[in-house]
Amino acid sequence: MTILVTGGAGFIGSNFVLDWLADASTRDERVVNLDALTYAGNLRNLASLQGDARHVFVKGDIGDRALVDRLLAEHQPRAVLHFAAESHVDRSILGPGAFIKTNVEGTFTLLEAARAYWSALEGDAKAAFRFHHVSTDEVYGSLAPDAPAFTETHPYEPNSPYSASKAASDHLVRAWHHTYGMPVLTTNCSNNYGPYHFPEKLIPLMIVNALAGKPLPIYGDGLQVRDWLYVGDHCSAIRTVLAKGRVGETYNIGGWNEKPNREIVHTVCALLDELRPSAEGPYTRLITHVKDRPGHDRRYAIDARKIERELGWRPAETFETGIRKTVRWYLEHADWVADVQSGGYRDWVAANYSAR
Ligand code: NAD
Ligand code: DAU
Repeated sequence: MTILVTGGAGFIGSNFVLDWLADASTRDERVVNLDALTYAGNLRNLASLQGDARHVFVKGDIGDRALVDRLLAEHQPRAVLHFAAESHVDRSILGPGAFIKTNVEGTFTLLEAARAYWSALEGDAKAAFRFHHVSTDEVYGSLAPDAPAFTETHPYEPNSPYSASKAASDHLVRAWHHTYGMPVLTTNCSNNYGPYHFPEKLIPLMIVNALAGKPLPIYGDGLQVRDWLYVGDHCSAIRTVLAKGRVGETYNIGGWNEKPNREIVHTVCALLDELRPSAEGPYTRLITHVKDRPGHDRRYAIDARKIERELGWRPAETFETGIRKTVRWYLEHADWVADVQSGGYRDWVAANYSAR
């Protein structure tokens, strides 16, 4: 059997592909990985799969209908797992166009291609097919400090161009189920962290800046709250929903781990003080407060009881174990960081793939 993953060279997608091909329950199933290799896509994340026939990488855009049609016809996947997106809120503020293009129009094109493919399937193959849409808790908007966490029925109140584009894609997926009967699953997850996280996001940015002796920029007062989930737990939750989720349902995924940004940064500094002490003194000396993000959501919190009650999923990592693993990973992968920062990973792709 085969699955089609979109965005499988990005942070979560690459962790998902690696975990899928390592997990005893899924490792015999081939992955076709469609990724446009934007600045956020990095084939180095998948270097350990080089020469592995279970992984077929295709460089391409989810908005390219002819390409998606061809991949579906050729590989006959039993599921599409849709990770591909523009994912960075700050970039969406500076340039929302790419977010509408990929997250809204791209999801539309992918859904239409998947609908045509699924409609032509028959019998067991048709009944078993799933379109799994990977989404975010940001679609629900911002919570007051004492408000209950987001459940799956919380109203959609997206506040950034990124979250608005993801909300639009969630609505498309929902409508394709209700109107056409497409067998969809949607998951809305909180902030991930872990290996291969592009260092424009809070946790990897703080690690790499601290190691380089650069400022650690905290937006505004740093008291914005996020729920943090280790990326491996997000991947296991998606595998669980794909295997057991009820068609047409949405499942919230979270780590039961709300923390203000300031605390996150202090935790990263403390771990670096322990694992790679600086001769200049504690890393917290580098913390600087900078101008806040426009429209900055104050708090996200996930109520993940539905996925636990219905499907028996809970995160395996605590924040303490997950963040320690993550800091260690960055310390041990200075070459990955340097490549991503220098743009050298694009050179690696050209060197490795241009002659194939
Ligand atoms: P990422 O930015 O690290 O990776 C996105 C990947 O999609 C990249 O490999 C990129 O090349 C690819 N891509 C972008 N546009 C494409 C296009 N038009 N066609 C094909 N590929 C394209 O993102 P991420 O953090 O791994 O997030 C993956 C998904 O999970 C996204 O849908 C995001 O909204 C969602 N999500 C992320 C988080 C988080 O904390 N990072 C939390 C919840 C949900
Ligand atoms: O909640 C899930 C979302 O989490 C995902 O849907 C997004 O794809 C993902 O990027 C993430 O969005 P955030 O905006 O929460 O993540 P980011 O790492 O950009 O920022 C986390 C918090 O840290 C946020 O409150 C802004 C703050 N921040 C961020 C950066 C980059 C800073 O204070 N300083 C910074 O330099």
